[in-house]
Amino acid sequence: MNGLAPLPEITVRPQETDDGERLRRLFDRLSPETVYRRFFTLFPAPPPSVLRHLGAVDHCDHEGLVALEGDEIVAVARWDRPGEGGPRAAELSILVEDAWQHRGLGRALMGLLVAEAARRRVTSLSAVILTENRPARRLATSLGPPTSVEMDGPVTHLTFALASS
Ligand SMILES: CC(C)(COP(=O)(O)OP(=O)(O)OC[C@H]1O[C@@H](n2cnc3c(N)ncnc32)[C@H](O)[C@@H]1OP(=O)(O)O)[C@@H](O)C(=O)NCCC(=O)NCCS
Repeated sequence: MNGLAPLPEITVRPQETDDGERLRRLFDRLSPETVYRRFFTLFPAPPPSVLRHLGAVDHCDHEGLVALEGDEIVAVARWDRPGEGGPRAAELSILVEDAWQHRGLGRALMGLLVAEAARRRVTSLSAVILTENRPARRLATSLGPPTSVEMDGPVTHLTFALASS
């Protein structure tokens, strides 16, 4: 496990397949607004399909990084290569629990995830963000200028080019 320089109490490691129960406990601590901003819908408890998706990592086409305080996951960022955009295109998502928001964790975790994606030869990252979601839009600026921006009802699809490292 690696400590996160700006937040010494936080450690970061790759997500593992046995993190399901930690992710479920993370859900229990999220505000409705955070749930809505990440999943574009509200649910009283995370549906099994959502937990399955969030828990799926194979360290090849589905990769996640988790930030922990002690043994509890407080943030998770992931990319998935669905194959539709080719083997070099991945979809990005990130979630920071409310108590840890606005403290630089999202930016730091995103930086690590993007570096890992570039190392894996991902050259294009896309994200779907609620257009009203200012924190996520600010965070997205850390990826540089988007190569494509498409508005689709309440959401914006953003694509960013990555230089392979
Ligand atoms: C979006 C999210 C991941 C940001 O994580 P975070 O740890 O709070 O963000 P950081 O503290 O690293 O800040 C990142 C940027 O967002 C800005 N930001 C953070 N909170 C903000 C707020 N409430 N309003 C405006 N900007 C905000 C910061 O100023 C920073 O930009 P800067 O470096 O240019 O100043 C977090 O708010 C979250 O999990 N939201 C719910 C889920 C979600 O929206 N996911 C994105 C869609 S997949």
